[in-house]
Amino acid sequence: MRNDYPNYVGQDAPATKRPITKLPPWGETSVVGKRLARVDAYDRVSGSAVYTSDVILPDMLYAAILRCPHAHAKLKRLNITKAKSMPGVRAIMTDASPGANIPWFFGEKGALSRLFDPHCRYEGDEVAAVAAESPYEAWDAARAIDVEYDILPFVSDAEEALEQGAPAVQEGGNREGEPYVRERGDVAKGFAEADAVLEETYRTSCQIHTPMELHGSVAQWDGGRLTVWDSTQGVFDIQRSLAQTLNLPLSSVRVISRYMGGGFGSKLELGKYTVIAAFLAKMTAQPVKIMLTRENSFLCVGNRPPNTIKLKAGVKNDGTLTALHLISLGTGGAYPADSSVSYLVRDLYLCPNVRTEETNVFINAGTARPMRAPGFPQCAWALEQMMDALAEKIRMEPIELRIKNIPSYSQVRNNRPYTSIGLKDCLVEGAKTFGWKRAREQPRQDGTIRRGVGVAAAMWGWEGEPVSTAIVKLFPDGSANLNIGASDIGTGTKTVMAMVVAEELGVPLEKIQVENADTATTQYAPASGGSQTVVANAPAVRKAAVEVRTQLLELASDELKRPVAELTLKDGMIQTLSEPIRKVPLSELKILGRVQTIVGVGHRDPHPEGKIALPFVAHFAEVEVNTKTGEVRIARFLAAHDSGRVMNRLTYENQVFGGVTMGIGFAATEGRILDGQQTGKMVNANWHDYKIPTAMDVPLDETCLPIDPHDTECNNTGSKGLGEPATIPTAAAIANAVYHATGIRVTHAPISPMQMLALLAEQGERR
Ligand code: MOS
Repeated sequence: MRNDYPNYVGQDAPATKRPITKLPPWGETSVVGKRLARVDAYDRVSGSAVYTSDVILPDMLYAAILRCPHAHAKLKRLNITKAKSMPGVRAIMTDASPGANIPWFFGEKGALSRLFDPHCRYEGDEVAAVAAESPYEAWDAARAIDVEYDILPFVSDAEEALEQGAPAVQEGGNREGEPYVRERGDVAKGFAEADAVLEETYRTSCQIHTPMELHGSVAQWDGGRLTVWDSTQGVFDIQRSLAQTLNLPLSSVRVISRYMGGGFGSKLELGKYTVIAAFLAKMTAQPVKIMLTRENSFLCVGNRPPNTIKLKAGVKNDGTLTALHLISLGTGGAYPADSSVSYLVRDLYLCPNVRTEETNVFINAGTARPMRAPGFPQCAWALEQMMDALAEKIRMEPIELRIKNIPSYSQVRNNRPYTSIGLKDCLVEGAKTFGWKRAREQPRQDGTIRRGVGVAAAMWGWEGEPVSTAIVKLFPDGSANLNIGASDIGTGTKTVMAMVVAEELGVPLEKIQVENADTATTQYAPASGGSQTVVANAPAVRKAAVEVRTQLLELASDELKRPVAELTLKDGMIQTLSEPIRKVPLSELKILGRVQTIVGVGHRDPHPEGKIALPFVAHFAEVEVNTKTGEVRIARFLAAHDSGRVMNRLTYENQVFGGVTMGIGFAATEGRILDGQQTGKMVNANWHDYKIPTAMDVPLDETCLPIDPHDTECNNTGSKGLGEPATIPTAAAIANAVYHATGIRVTHAPISPMQMLALLAEQGERR
């Protein structure tokens, strides 16, 4: 059911055996690494960028989905007579329509649901869909559908779901499969060898993705060919899933996502709404647009599942970890979903005896989807607080304890060595820049405002082995076109890729046009996820650009009567290096006019045999706990990252600060609240009651410290993943800082003012 780490993005192995062509690592770069604004920044902020919700086609209809308002119910009656006759209504799809039976959500014994299933297992399960001439008419008609439910008892808590007599979310029971157990060494022996053993139960809340751009699709049929504009992280994944679902050849399904406004993992997979749009478009022979609502985005398109993590750890007085034992209970909601969290416990530190046991249960709530480093922030919340507690227990400096347990230069993981040298640098250099030693040595204060500092470390474990192809074209006027399949999910992918082309061809950035994320017209790229977008695509782009460069210089060498070795490309010109120095703008090169276009194709090579490069991170937080209000203010933050080469200093910092902000939300403000008493419904499915951090909640004094160990063995750009590591240890660092400030170990995320006040009061009573 689960791999060592779930393969939730893209494909795993190269399709063809191509000879591996190695490019030498870059020396000094002139474009790559610079702080440059996004190439499409103006388009994005001015409104000229066409996102899925901006797509308007002739004769297009708008769809609305009627969703079950109950946590658990069965359809008793569904009558569309009135709705059908409402103004503007063109089609209605229900569980009786053709296509409604398409199986959905696969468990171990087959599908656990259908596109429209009369058994609604969470608040938001699809019941019916309407296509009408305007969105308002569609919504009016959806509301006019006469529907009656048998309301069933619900369960909204993972522990309760396992109790005897709990309402069954799925017929097979509330346990999803067997517990997922991984083990190395012998934990009992490890605990026996330890000088100190600690045990603690940590809880994390359900975090919602809430990307700025809502989920949605536009579907259009042209004969037997389906075109879908979709807000997705991976057009090729959606194409594949749609083709399978609708039983069409891949060539008959085109998926486009040129502009994308955030996904964080919630837009990796095909949504029911996309299939519904395709059916409604088929039924009406008109294009259909379907955009979900903000409330839907809280209920129906994924989340970071909540976990209860019991962690027991043994350590020797010299700081050597002897055993780690993790037992996790998680819930991915009403349908099969991954809630495993154990990865970091197994792989971050060198510990000979590790056992992890994980159970996923069904509850009546929306299904989890991968969310920015799935499982990792939850595990860091437990493991990195535990490391802090162990350090205190054996009176060791917490950074020293971590460094003591970092695997040496390379440790075998899944039979492949990885380099962990960057983690030590993140901790050591980060501590220096943060002023850790001095801040940590401050004695605990007694006043209203209590200051403290904390640290947490992590790695990101998705190694990928991504296939991608890029095409670069150079035109006779010296401008260039880059063709890649990747979605730019807001991270600046297009910009970074264009910078790679600019680096190799000396073409100014503004003269490079990027075509991307269209299965009919662009090359294959894996989904933009797993922090693999740069790592998967940049090496192919660089190769394509180098191919153009090689051809160009050969042609120019003939024309300029100088050997290739004496030519270079810079600022849109060919320059000769030897006397007399000549600079010829590309547009004046006659040969370029004759050949018109120089084309270069680049493929991404697999990682070298037996070698992977993983990113590492250490976060440092300084907090102020207000003992009167219970508020935790993050005063100062430093994020030290080994994500390999910095491709663009600005987009690098954007990723880090965005990830930290999401981590601050996970630590302090965010959490789905289900009414477990009366309705089972989510009571904070909006941006007012579900609080994501704003500019007021993040520290002004935030520092990004890139650590680059110059590891170019794995890919020709020396880049590693960044987007996900940036959110992994944030919350744990904050919790450790809160402990340093107050002596209170907050084990339940988020550290809300309410919880903090209660814990402070408890502490007061104990004194
Ligand atoms: Mo991510 S959770 O790989 O978008």
